Amino acid sequence: MDRAEFFETLAGADDPLAFRPEHEPRLARLRRRLGDLRGKRVFEPGCGAGPLTARLAEWVGAGGHVLALDACPGMVARCERTVAAHAHVRTIRGKAEEAELEAGGWDLILCFRLYPHLDAPATFLRRCADGLAPAGELVIANLEGSRELNAFHADRAGVRDDVMPAGSELARHLRATGWQVAEVVDEPEEFFLRARRA
Ligand SMILES: C[S@@+](CC[C@H](N)C(=O)[O-])C[C@H]1O[C@@H](n2cnc3c(N)ncnc32)[C@H](O)[C@@H]1O
Repeated sequence: MDRAEFFETLAGADDPLAFRPEHEPRLARLRRRLGDLRGKRVFEPGCGAGPLTARLAEWVGAGGHVLALDACPGMVARCERTVAAHAHVRTIRGKAEEAELEAGGWDLILCFRLYPHLDAPATFLRRCADGLAPAGELVIANLEGSRELNAFHADRAGVRDDVMPAGSELARHLRATGWQVAEVVDEPEEFFLRARRA
């Protein structure tokens, strides 16, 4: 099984990658770290079935805008249903590395539970740099640390080779490619990295 098959199969599950009760404190922490998102324009690549997209819809409010993108058709269909009630959320199919982003059009690009699955992270990061508004931020976040996530993937055919870099390694790479890294946390129950264009 390859990655695409893995996610297409997962998209047919009852509630793909739904948040569990133990995730709630981690999501509350993520929300605190993101700050006030009301009225913001947020791009969420790798949205999956939209468990976070639904929350982003509320966090930005009707005055904001969320663009949710996923490479897997089944996931996009699920996400469309998840956010159907929110006119300020748009869902599209596509690869994050190929996303046609309005230059300077985004206040936040939130790469949530996606980064290790990217085929071409460097290409994706270049797209992010072009898409962010001057004060816009890139956030790369997971609900567990890189070590824990890599152990989880190691048991699963299809994503076995999808490796999340350690926070320090990713921060080093970003700094070397023109980003200012403002915050990096890589702890067992959290991965959070915030960066801006230097
Ligand atoms: C682990 S899931 C997380 C989904 C969602 N962010 C969540 O938290 O439930 C990763 C998602 O990324 C999507 N994906 C993988 N590679 C991608 C890429 N290159 N571009 C866009 N989406 C991709 C998969 O189809 C899948 O839905």
